[in-house]
Amino acid sequence: MESPFLLSIDWESPVQIELKNISFSYRGKDRVSEVFRDFSLVFASGEAVGIMGREGSGKSTLLQLLAGLQRPQQGEVLVAEKAPWELDRWTEVRKNIGILFQFPEQQFFQETVEREVGFSLRNHGVSRDQERERCWQVLRLLGFEPEAIVQKSPFTLSIGEARKVAFASILVMNPNLLLLDEPTAGLDSHGAEAMMAILHQLRRRGTTIITVSHDTNLLAEISSRIIVLAEGATAFDGTANTLFRDNNLLAGFGYDQPETLRCANLLRKKGKVMEDRLYSADELLFLTSQRSAGKLR
Ligand SMILES: Nc1ncnc2c1ncn2[C@@H]1O[C@H](COP(=O)(O)OP(=O)(O)OP(=O)(O)O)[C@@H](O)[C@H]1O
Ligand SMILES: [Mg+2]
Repeated sequence: MESPFLLSIDWESPVQIELKNISFSYRGKDRVSEVFRDFSLVFASGEAVGIMGREGSGKSTLLQLLAGLQRPQQGEVLVAEKAPWELDRWTEVRKNIGILFQFPEQQFFQETVEREVGFSLRNHGVSRDQERERCWQVLRLLGFEPEAIVQKSPFTLSIGEARKVAFASILVMNPNLLLLDEPTAGLDSHGAEAMMAILHQLRRRGTTIITVSHDTNLLAEISSRIIVLAEGATAFDGTANTLFRDNNLLAGFGYDQPETLRCANLLRKKGKVMEDRLYSADELLFLTSQRSAGKLR
């Protein structure tokens, strides 16, 4: 079901982003660890891209570079044709970028959930009443009862709650570029469903969504293009359809096939005529709820 809140979004110009021949290393006192060398990628406006790769392959670093939280030592990062770290924190472009950290508590700095979620709104001159209304709407959208949570300290929340509150603090601004680092990690199945439903809606509205995740079920649902990172380079860049249907390729990267694929294969074995493509969970539900599905049993 469409949420009235998301339907009311007034979309601004889309954002295209680009990494041009970047090199990036973390530089500690006595150690330099190189993450990217001469690495390039382009994300089209409105694209829904999943980023996969083993631990330490540079997924979080990639998002931080795109958000302007890290700067490459060489090369360029361009968000709407500008370097993200040069954007004034409160400019139009900047407010259109929402980043969800892998560890949500790293992005909290307010005393209560309500202040945390409303922070960006306050900085854009939204009235106190509007701020409160908007915060509560978004918290409800994520399955919270706002009364029960708004006065809590964000630092006392469970990991799942913290992730949803961090997501709410981004959603209030209607960003048109979302950078999500493991958005469903630590969420229960209701939380993950709520998150997925929102991402579906945002996608339909043309939001560019770049999602880092190990969860092939999530990425199969919300991403059309998948990039697999390995040792600072792109090991795969193609459609979700290609990667997820190729079990050998997927297993080579250390991942399981999405459950929807296994379900589709099971239906096929039972005689259901299926196209040779990735089906969403909703499509499978629809197929199995049709009368012809009776024959399958
Ligand atoms: N602040 C830091 N200082 C030094 N090295 C770092 C720092 N953050 C990350 N690294 C190193 O950079 C490399 C890439 O890290 P990154 O966090 O981007 O990987 P990742 O793909 O997100 O991993 P994970 O799946 O564990 O989240 C790793 O080798 C990591 O140890
Ligand atoms: Mg990471």
